[in-house]
Formats: sequence, C-alpha cells, structure tokens
Amino acid sequence: MEILSKGSLHKMNYTDLKKRFVEIYGEGEIRIFSAAGRVNLIGEHIDYNGGNVMPAALNLACTVIARPNNSEKIKLAFTTIDNREVLDINKLEQYKTLKYGNYQAGVAYVMQKEGFSIVGCDMLYDASVPFGSGLSSSAAIEVSTALTLATFSKESGNNKKDIDLVELAVLSQKAENQYVGVNSGIMDQFASAMGKAEHAIVLDCSTLKCQYVPLKLGDYSLVIANTNKPRSLADSKYNERRSECEQALSILQKSLDINNLCEMSPDIFTQNKHLLSGKIKDRAEHCVFEQDRVNKSVIAMTNGNLKEFGQLLNKSHQSLKDLYEVTGIELDTLAETAQKVQGCIGSRMTGAGFGGCTVSLVKTDMVDSFIEEVTKIYTKKIGYAPTFYNTTICNGAYEVKA
Ligand code: GLA
Repeated sequence: MEILSKGSLHKMNYTDLKKRFVEIYGEGEIRIFSAAGRVNLIGEHIDYNGGNVMPAALNLACTVIARPNNSEKIKLAFTTIDNREVLDINKLEQYKTLKYGNYQAGVAYVMQKEGFSIVGCDMLYDASVPFGSGLSSSAAIEVSTALTLATFSKESGNNKKDIDLVELAVLSQKAENQYVGVNSGIMDQFASAMGKAEHAIVLDCSTLKCQYVPLKLGDYSLVIANTNKPRSLADSKYNERRSECEQALSILQKSLDINNLCEMSPDIFTQNKHLLSGKIKDRAEHCVFEQDRVNKSVIAMTNGNLKEFGQLLNKSHQSLKDLYEVTGIELDTLAETAQKVQGCIGSRMTGAGFGGCTVSLVKTDMVDSFIEEVTKIYTKKIGYAPTFYNTTICNGAYEVKA
C-alpha cells in the first residue's frame, strides 16, 4: 500500500549504518534491531480509558545498530545528531534529564528493576520517525532499545527468559510513565512492538488482547500529513486530559459498576451523563462515543465498507476538536480541508494531538491532486506548508537480518 509523497524522509540504508557504526565503535560483530512508528487509524485518547484502539505500524522506524561491549557502560550515538552519551549501568536512575538518551536510560532502568540483567553495549540510533510528529517516535526508540537490551541480556546467559514483545511494550510504557514522566497509555508501544504488515491492530487496552484486521483499502490509500506545528505543552496537556478522565470515572463509579470509561455503552452514558458537568462531561462523552466508532470501524473495515469508515474518521476528528479539545487550528485546517477535497472520504488527527499529523483516506489515483490542493489551502491559512509522508503498513519490532 504505497502512498505518494512530497515529504523527504531520513533513512540510511543498512550498509551505510554499519559503516557509520564501525567508524564510531570499531570493527566486530554488528546486530541490527528495528521498531516501528505508528499511525492510529481510530480510537484516540481511549487507550488509557480501557478502550479498543486501531493503530498500525509504519515503515518509519527507529533502527538500532548494536553489540555488547563487555563493560558496564551503554554507549549511545545517533545518526541525526552529534551528541554522544555514556550510561553507567549501575547508575541508571541518574539520566532522567538527559536531552538525548533519557528514553534509552529509562528503558534500561525499568528492565533492570524488573529482573533483566542489563549488559553494557555500543549502540547507534537511526530514527526515520519524525520527532514530535504524533507518529510515536518515542515508542519506536523505547521498543527498539528494549528489544536490543533483552536480546543481549538473554544471550549473556544471565537471563533465560524468552523475548516477549508484549512484555517489552509494557516495560517501554513504564519507562515513559515513570522515568520520562509522560503518562501515556499502551497503544504506541504495543503497535511499535506488535504491528503486522498490511494489517491494523485492534487492541483491547484493558486486557492487551489484540486481533489483526487486514487493511482492505481497495482503490484507496492512507495519506499521512504533518502539520509541522512546533509541539509545545503537549505533554502537560496530555497529562491534564488523563486526569480529567480519571475524575469523570471516579464520579461515575459512585453510581455505576464500571472499571473504566470505555466500558459504558452510549446508552448507559446518555442515561448517566447528568452526573457529570462541564469539561469533564465532554471528555467522558468523547471516550464513550470514540469507543463506539472503533467498534463500528472494525465492522466497516472487515466488510470493506470504506465510505462508512471514512465517515467515522471525520466524526472522530470532530469529537477530538469539540469535546476533547486536543486539535488546534493547524490540525483542524489540515483535516477539515482534506475532508472537502475531491477523492478524500475521511480525515482526522492521529496521535496525542496539539500538532502532529493527520491521516486521510484518499482515492489512490487522486493522491497527487489531493496533496497539491491541501498544501495550497493549508499554506495560505497557516503560513507554512504541511509535509506528506510516503508510508506503508509494516511489521512492528524485530531483529533485522542484513
Ligand atoms: C499518545 C499516547 C498514546 C495515546 C495517544 C492518544 O500517542 O502515547 O498512549 O493515548 O496519544 O490516543
């Protein structure tokens, strides 16, 4: 499912990456691990409310070139920034404020606390997921780090556990919550680890059970567009939304036997929404109806009913704009412009919001004119252009045999 693009993506090939690794760390055996970024098709801001979400892993990924170094140090280098970091595996708690390397340190720290024996290693990171784009660049870093460290830990003989990608996703989420300080749900790390080529994941976030739905897009393509809005305040607003949902839940739990907001059907919510007021009510309403849209999307996708799926994407955006209030002028302009352009049957923001990307369903032979038209209108209104990515839906995390 190739999408035409006007955006250029950073991506080194494996031969160049190995060469770069040798320049930095010297000759020797080299291993390569990869974990994907993701696009969330629908089910936004409900993973931390026990909902079902529908993400898919992208070919935009974080690649780690690595090998154990027989020391007590994890050495970090990056292809896109000059910075180098050295982490002492006996003092992993002390790197929380690092600008580059805190995600890696957080993953190593959490894994160590959970019984993995972390071994020193040399690592080179190459990220093709654009940072701050809402396509889970941080989850891709976390999961690729976790897979690398778990593999070396197992091979060191100190840890006999088999590699379990779901476990690594959960550990990665813990690192983000407890070490980096963003209270994110499980969706991004799960998709980054468990994605399947040409399939959407339908993940029940209250049980971590998932099923894969083939993306039967027929004559249509998924087009991902970046607002290019510099993201600010996203993390604090995210944590604020999460706590608003917790407040809504605790009020409703006084009258209803529920464990999370997404357990309520639209009917039950409608009968009980008088218990809530103001923004708290709006946030809960978004969650309940977004869950309903995911359920309907799974049916629509399974039946190949793309028009219906497109309508659900539009409704999801509207609700994220009006009830959850996580869009902003850039995302609204991008999605609402797309919705009106010929050939597009649905468009919405994807990810946490407050900037980042949209995902649109566009007739494949009209993608070029779609990109042109949306770029023209968006640029005129916002003052700078969006970027369109050339993406395919791929597998999540794995060791690359190259
Ligand atoms: C971010 C978080 C996810 C999820 C989305 C919104 O990407 O990391 O856990 O909550 O926002 O759906």
